[in-house]
Amino acid sequence: MKLFVDTGNLKEIEGLAALGILDGVTTNPSLLAKESGDYKQNLKQICQIVQGPVSAEVVATDTAGMLREGRELAKIDPHIVVKVPFTKDGVKACKTLAAEGTKVNVTLIFSATQAWLAAKVGASYVSPFVGRLDDIATTGMNLIREIVDIFDNFEYSTEVLVASVRNPIHIVEAARMGADVVTVPAAVIEQSFKHPLTDIGLEKFLKDWEKAQAAKV
Ligand code: E4P
Repeated sequence: MKLFVDTGNLKEIEGLAALGILDGVTTNPSLLAKESGDYKQNLKQICQIVQGPVSAEVVATDTAGMLREGRELAKIDPHIVVKVPFTKDGVKACKTLAAEGTKVNVTLIFSATQAWLAAKVGASYVSPFVGRLDDIATTGMNLIREIVDIFDNFEYSTEVLVASVRNPIHIVEAARMGADVVTVPAAVIEQSFKHPLTDIGLEKFLKDWEKAQAAKV
């Protein structure tokens, strides 16, 4: 399963890329709005750092506007994946952009039928939002199981990109269900590094080693 970070923050991306664990980045208008500087330049820099797929979302809501923005975003760097929302206009834009050879991530997916329709129009990725489904008292991860089953049945090449991840349990479940990608906020990746038994274990190894060395002199 590929790991993307869900952020527009260059420092977070640089830090994770340096660890060698990062396969790509997803952004959205809310995330990019938090960052200073020109968003196109920021996206270019992100592409140069990660050297993998970087999702950049259109803000137009009509097909013509989405196509205009999508084509502009795609010009920034070959790693750009144009993100469009799952609406009728978004589906039409996805079909055209995909036919032109642009990779498209269809976002704001909340049902398996939405994911299936996006796959039919050539989306490279679908982004089901598990955390936001959990927020309304449904089990978001059930949607991932449904989409993975459907895509497997018909051998769609569209990748299931688990989005709106809120904790490491979402990551483990996504991997067990066979999702292709998980996009995770930097804070949740940080949480995944922490385990009290790792810290205690390392401390003990080092103390035992030091004690043994001191006894030898
Ligand atoms: C996906 O690409 C979105 O950027 C993201 O995962 C949304 O997550 P949120 O529900 O935490 O805002």
